[in-house]
Parts: sequence; C-alpha cells; structure tokens
Amino acid sequence: MKFLIQEKGKQMAKRSILHMFDPMPNNSPFDVNMALDCDFDVLVPYANVNPDSIHRLTQDVIFSRGPKGVKQTAIFIGGRDINVAIDMLKNAKKSMVPPFEVSVLADPSGAFTTAAALVACVEKELRDKFNKELKDCKALVFGGTGPVGIATGVIASLAGANTTLVDHFSSEEALSLAEEYNRLFECNLSGTIATFDEEKIKLIEDTDLIFCTAKAGIQILSAEVLSHAKQLKVVGDVNAVPPAGIAGVQVNDFGAPLEGTENAVAVGPLAVGNVKYKVQHALLSSMLKSDKPVYLDFIAAFEKAKEILES
Ligand SMILES: NC(=O)c1ccc[n+]([C@@H]2O[C@H](COP(=O)([O-])OP(=O)(O)OC[C@H]3O[C@@H](n4cnc5c(N)ncnc54)[C@H](OP(=O)(O)O)[C@@H]3O)[C@@H](O)[C@H]2O)c1
Repeated sequence: MKFLIQEKGKQMAKRSILHMFDPMPNNSPFDVNMALDCDFDVLVPYANVNPDSIHRLTQDVIFSRGPKGVKQTAIFIGGRDINVAIDMLKNAKKSMVPPFEVSVLADPSGAFTTAAALVACVEKELRDKFNKELKDCKALVFGGTGPVGIATGVIASLAGANTTLVDHFSSEEALSLAEEYNRLFECNLSGTIATFDEEKIKLIEDTDLIFCTAKAGIQILSAEVLSHAKQLKVVGDVNAVPPAGIAGVQVNDFGAPLEGTENAVAVGPLAVGNVKYKVQHALLSSMLKSDKPVYLDFIAAFEKAKEILES
C-alpha cells in the first residue's frame, strides 16, 4: 500500500522509484520496459557505474525518503558481467543502514532470470518424463562462457548436476571461468572446448542434458551430431533467432520429442522466455511488496522459476 505525504495542502501518494545502476554505457531497454510494467512509477537510469561507486550511490538512495519511503524505493543492477553485478549487489547490501534499507535485484544481461527459467524448465521435464533429478545427471552448457551460459552452469551445478561449461574457442577460457565461479559460489563446474563436430560428438556421447546458451542465430549442434547422444534426456535452447542452436528444437517446445534422438525431449526459447518474463516480473514486484528489504540474485530467480512451474 502506498503511504501518503502532504504536498501544498493536498494528500499525494508517494511514488515508487527504481534506481537502475549499470556498468555499461546504457541501461537495457528490456529491463526498463519490464520495470515500468511492474508498476514502478519512476525509473532512474545510471550508466558507467562501477562497484566502487555503489556505496555512495546507495547511501544517496536510502537517506532521502525516510524509513517508510524506502519501501517505495529499490535498486536494479544490470550490465553484462555476472561477477561485476554480484560485486555491486554485495556492495549495495553493505552500504545499507537499517532502517534505511532498500531492496536490490541483480539481473545482468537478463542472465539470472533466463538461466533460472532454463534450468527450471529442463529440471521439470527431467522429472516428469524421466523420473530423474539434476543430481543424477551429466550436463553440458554450450555457449557456456557468456553471461547466460555461466549463470546456467552455476545454477545446474549448485542443484547437483555434473556440469561442464563448453567454449567454442578456448579450453583455457572455459577452465578459468569454471574455477573463478567455483570459488565465488562454491559450485563444482568443469570447463572444456568443442570447436569441431568430432569434439562435440565425443562430449555428448554420454551426456544426459544439454543447455544451449550460445550467441543467437548460430546452430551449435547439428542433427548428425545429436544422433550420437545415446543417453540424452532433455535439451534446452534459449536462442530464438533462426537457426535453432540445437537442430530440431522448435521455439515453443516444452517437452516435445527431439527429432533424430532416441527419446530426448526439448525445451525451446519461447517456452523459456515465458517463464523468464514471469520470474523477472515477480522479482521486481516483490521489491515493492516485501515488508523487509530483499536481495535477489540467480538463487532467488531459480526458486521463483520453480515456484512458477509448480503453480
Ligand atoms: N529465450 C530467452 O528468454 C533469452 C533471454 C536472454 C538471452 N537469450 C539468449 O541467450 C543466449 C545467450 O545470451 P548471452 O548474452 O550470454 O550471449 P552472448 O554473450 O552473445 O554469447 C554467449 C556465448 O556464445 C558463444 N559463441 C559465440 N559464437 C559461437 C559459436 N560460433 N559457436 C559456439 N559458441 C559461440 C560466445 O563465445 P565468445 O564470446 O567466445 O565468442 C559466448 O560464450 C543468446 O542466444 C540470447 O539471444 C534468450
């Protein structure tokens, strides 16, 4: 409920404000649209913000509206880099002075909400169609070194899947990112390279799950490569720009049989996108509805995605 202030003799509802901190030269229009659709009255974009300036900015946010006003005030952290976004979230949390404390959501490049939706959809199909859990499975993340890929790998690994980030160019890059995120989030990622079809075939022969989070508009796995995946159960592809990242995946698939495989099923990008949209909407709204300040990252996003899929 919005509380009231006096202004020039009239009672006016205090407006809700979302401060959008972004390390990039501009904020994402996607996130701006989402925030307005979540009933924030005022959006304030900040570009080129670095983790060191978060303390000053956050304290400017919290002290100007009074302890009640902070409930109508929140911070969104964007950007492209997961590590930087998590640093900014931690710095913002450290800068709060209760009761002067506001909620914060980090979702750099939409990676947390997209990855959360992707893993939750794949997990649902794994349970429904194969009666298995992520912890029983070997998972590969193709395009695993981009923001969505890293977040997918971390979530899947924390949920117990034996997860490998696959880079198309450099095994060093995949391995060093796996080590960096294992340190940060206490997960257990591996990293490897697959550039050519022979390398992809070798990798997928005994995998249960494939996540495709590579750059849009590129086919990563052909039908011929997929035919070698004898244990494959579920694939999830987030690329909505033709051709599909995984041959045979249709944009709206949610548990449809994947052509050319023995009995694998597919989750397509629009099915993931639908859940991602709901997750981001719910997390943004929760910052205005919650009695206590909340700090939301990929873990909160994954919990929300699972809740949405169960409802
Ligand atoms: N469905 C949804 O709701 C939704 C929402 C958000 C994003 N997305 C999609 O999610 C995907 C990932 O997003 P992102 O921002 O993380 O993407 P990104 O940074 O553009 O690319 C992700 C990864 O793809 C790799 N890559 C580039 N060319 C490749 C190739 N030829 N073969 C294999 N890998 C290649 C990149 O490696 P290098 O950097 O080394 O080239 C990078 O590691 C995109 O397809 C995006 O459109 C979907």
